[in-house]
Amino acid sequence: MSRVVALGHRPPTHGGNLNQEAARMGLRPGQLLDASASLVPFRPPAVLRRALKRGIQGSALRDYPDRSQQELRAAIASWHAIDKETVLPGNGAAELFTWTARDAAGCGLSGFLEPGFADYRRALACWGGAAQGLPLDLGTFSAGVGLWPVPVERYPEVRVIWITNPHNPTGQLWSRASLEPLLERHSLVICDEAFLPLVPNGEQQSLIPLVADHPNLVVIRSLTKLFAVAGLRLGYAIASPARLQQWSQWRDPWPVNGLALAAGSAVMADQLGLKRWQECVQRWIRREEPWLRAQINALAGLRAHPSSANYLLLEGDDSLLHLREQVARRRVLLRDCRSFAGLGERWLRIGLQDRRGNRRILQALRGALRDQPLT
Ligand SMILES: Cc1ncc(COP(=O)(O)O)c(C=O)c1O
Repeated sequence: MSRVVALGHRPPTHGGNLNQEAARMGLRPGQLLDASASLVPFRPPAVLRRALKRGIQGSALRDYPDRSQQELRAAIASWHAIDKETVLPGNGAAELFTWTARDAAGCGLSGFLEPGFADYRRALACWGGAAQGLPLDLGTFSAGVGLWPVPVERYPEVRVIWITNPHNPTGQLWSRASLEPLLERHSLVICDEAFLPLVPNGEQQSLIPLVADHPNLVVIRSLTKLFAVAGLRLGYAIASPARLQQWSQWRDPWPVNGLALAAGSAVMADQLGLKRWQECVQRWIRREEPWLRAQINALAGLRAHPSSANYLLLEGDDSLLHLREQVARRRVLLRDCRSFAGLGERWLRIGLQDRRGNRRILQALRGALRDQPLT
């Protein structure tokens, strides 16, 4: 029987609600380990921090930002070896979902895997777009690269397909070869690669190289996860120049602030530093994901599923909300998964930390389970 936990608020649709959670428990945010959001556990790269510091002291703060975003677009284009007219920076991936959704709403029914990332629905709702969930079978998790799980013939009425690669919240990586046929069948294919640069060998599955030949493809990237800069708000879309020019006419005049432009330009132009950073992040996931998963799987009543990304999906036989609350009392925040359609109280998501942080998560889990076992 599931225990009822009166938390006094609706389930959060995002992780990372550090301030509210701290206030709820009468703590300062710094006293909590936030494993409900999935950012790398390192300080942002020095080149990015230096650019911010320079920006605050100079024109990046004083002047209106460059509306053409030339420098940042050129740096991103050069990193991916693509035409800069196919790049559009945005105020985080979230802002770009809003414009993608405007196009999607005009194409017809949108389909997304469920459970999946909830923000696509929010974006689509802005334009009254129709949406249909495509149920994802949670019985099959594979540790490596997997095949897109939904045969297109099953949903002939779906015109637009939204992909998250790797998937959130499962961490499943989809192969490029299995996604490519979707481009032939759908009016619009949107691939959110927010976590892909973190995934060991993940770039090989990116759809970015296909954009030049497919005007019906939009790829969205985010700097949030890779550099742990959720507060900066910076992401980019890669799509046909005509589509991006249209979005530029719809959006606010200065959607990306001057500090974000300066920091993003510096970090994306430093290609050697970026390559090293990506290798370091991927090494961390290769080391910590199997370790933390094995440690959690040794705890009675919990199953951690394999993931290609920097988060683990946890399953219990019964509700895990009480456990989440008890872990929060031990100053570790885990992601409540009730806002993911098709999940519910039996699921939690954990953002990987460095080894010290992961030990802290385990200690909190063990303490909570000792006081109140799940079985
Ligand atoms: C799959 C996925 N895409 C995109 C985002 C949002 O990224 P950004 O911070 O760049 O808006 C998130 C944030 O949680 C996410 O989980």
